[in-house]
Amino acid sequence: ASESMLSITVVGASGDLAKKKIFPALFALYYEDCLPKNFTVFGYARTKMTDEELRDMISATLTCRIDKSENCEDKMEQFLSRCYYHSGLYDSEDNFSELDTKLREKEAGKLAHRLFYLSIPPNIFVDVVKCASIRASSMKGWTRVIVEKPFGRDSESSRELTRSLKRYLSEDQIFRIDHYLGKELVENLSVLRFSNLVFEPLWSRNYIRNVQFIFSEDFGTEGRGGYFDHYGIIRDIMQNHLLQILALFAMETPVSLDAEDIRNEKVKVLRSMRPLQLEDVVVGQYKGHSKGSRSYPGYTDDPTVPNDSITPTFAAAALFINNARWDGVPFLMKAGKALHTKRAEIRVQFRHVPGNLYRKNFGTDLDKATNELVLQVQPDEAIYLKINNKVPGLGMRLDRSDLNLLFRARYPIEVPDAYERLLLDAVAGERRLFIRSDELDAAWALFTPLLKELDEKKIAPELYPYGSRGPVGAHYLAAKYNVRWGDLSADD
Ligand code: BG6
Repeated sequence: ASESMLSITVVGASGDLAKKKIFPALFALYYEDCLPKNFTVFGYARTKMTDEELRDMISATLTCRIDKSENCEDKMEQFLSRCYYHSGLYDSEDNFSELDTKLREKEAGKLAHRLFYLSIPPNIFVDVVKCASIRASSMKGWTRVIVEKPFGRDSESSRELTRSLKRYLSEDQIFRIDHYLGKELVENLSVLRFSNLVFEPLWSRNYIRNVQFIFSEDFGTEGRGGYFDHYGIIRDIMQNHLLQILALFAMETPVSLDAEDIRNEKVKVLRSMRPLQLEDVVVGQYKGHSKGSRSYPGYTDDPTVPNDSITPTFAAAALFINNARWDGVPFLMKAGKALHTKRAEIRVQFRHVPGNLYRKNFGTDLDKATNELVLQVQPDEAIYLKINNKVPGLGMRLDRSDLNLLFRARYPIEVPDAYERLLLDAVAGERRLFIRSDELDAAWALFTPLLKELDEKKIAPELYPYGSRGPVGAHYLAAKYNVRWGDLSADD
């Protein structure tokens, strides 16, 4: 009985996120020997299913790493044999007691830690947390709960959710996931800044002209319209994923890499932000269109979306941080669905070279000659720096070239999915990549007045065709601050 044990329960086991992300991530961790020797995985949901049926369902989505497929099939079998299922209601203490009985059976008297992953709609978060904490908490080990957004839809509802969760859990039991923080390049942002001499000294208003955080998807809300219509792109992507990256990007050097030190710095950035003005925001919504024989549906063609919905599927915003380092530097965000490309990136545009000796080689468009650092988060992880370079030859012709670190060329391994890192951290009790409640409050405080105003004034989104580059308003917004979106040029 001296060995400890880990029991992981995925609540909402038959849902999309669980199938696509959580079980495959758990398997990958198992495959990489990152899970403790003794562990079980329980699926919990309302659907009636046997253990075998759960295993069949999961096995369809498990994958082997491309570079490490050895023994993969055997490992899958071994993993699946540790997976079980319990069917129950989300608000039934009795059903969670039954789960507890099954968990204890597997735990066989060992010191057992319990991790619950809530892969369920937000309206049942509190019910589940209540039942799980009262009836299925670990007796001697820790009990942790991973929750995923939406954490409310504004400051009030978010605070209310936090209050309710804290009736049953302490802050250190709650792991609020923002899966963008688990992405390789987002983790790498701090490494790039703080372990290289050449970037950090430039990391301020003295050298940086603007910073852009761009998220685009080349598909619409397909099938998720019901959820999406209640939230919209600002709550879905900006208030969390992009803002989190912004905070990491802009924070001061933390005292250490400890979770509290990092989160202290992030929250300072969020609290230093200038209130977001309606004039600094552009919203859009995709409309249907046809191209050749194919036709692409508009957002409101989704049967789960009301025909007169004005929920934005695209937004661009200009944000500012009122502190000494960033005063006056525009931080631009752009996020949209059903655009021409699928990509997430951070672009840093540097200032002009003062008194540039090569000025005349750039013609009138000096903006084209500024350095730009790009962190491509996905799909193809890369860090590159646009520099000016002499075209070889007798003349003096300059062009823009990239110093390019393309991950797949440099590191021929598969980059782990964000959920793998996050699950591993939750098991280890590492909170660095999870959102603290004061960070969440600060993030909502920034966006809530704007969201209210958009609602109250019923601001109509600018329509853009499915598969296009989004509303032209985004360019006017950038132009207002002398910014050009960096993803426009054909070579990008
Ligand atoms: C989720 C959003 O948080 O992130 C989705 O709710 C979005 O709308 C998804 O599609 C994007 O995540 P990723 O990892 O596929 O870029």
